[in-house]
Amino acid sequence: MEKTLLIVKPDGVVRGLIGEVISRVERKGLKIVALKMMKLSKEKAEELYSVHKGKPFFQELIEHITSAPIVAMILEGENAIQIVRNMIGATDPSKANPGTIRGDYALTITKNVVHAADSKENAEREIKVIFGTEKPIEYKRTDENWLY
Ligand SMILES: Nc1ncnc2c1ncn2[C@@H]1O[C@H](COP(=O)(O)OP(=O)(O)OP(=O)(O)O)[C@@H](O)[C@H]1O
Ligand SMILES: [Mg+2]
Repeated sequence: MEKTLLIVKPDGVVRGLIGEVISRVERKGLKIVALKMMKLSKEKAEELYSVHKGKPFFQELIEHITSAPIVAMILEGENAIQIVRNMIGATDPSKANPGTIRGDYALTITKNVVHAADSKENAEREIKVIFGTEKPIEYKRTDENWLY
């Protein structure tokens, strides 16, 4: 089953939005197979956002993501990557639709509450950065027969 990485960024954690984000993915039917709160080091943050190295907002992005704890989770489900991208909404909250996490809870592009992997390749890479060799936990949701 497809896996993706979703992170509640420091602004989301500090603003008390961890439960809101988790609640949405749970209700959607996605399965949480790993969950972790951590404070990212500068090195890990730069690894996570390596694709943005050299961009004008890189420094600000790294400063923000390391400023307070994050909550990272691996989510499993059919088409999980695209589904979670749809649920978080556009990068810039001023363009994110209501009903999406960023559309409902964010005002600015740096403090946009969540991060989600945008491709299979990035999901695998980012999961390694955050969870290392830790393995996702296998279990059944009671509603699986009603989701698939
Ligand atoms: N033009 C910009 N100015 C300032 N910050 C930006 C800009 N573009 C992106 N960012 C920040 O960098 C993060 C990563 O940018 P990216 O283009 O990958 O957007 P995204 O894929 O929607 O977001 P994320 O990777 O966090 O899920 C964004 O979430 C945002 O916080
Ligand atoms: Mg991205």
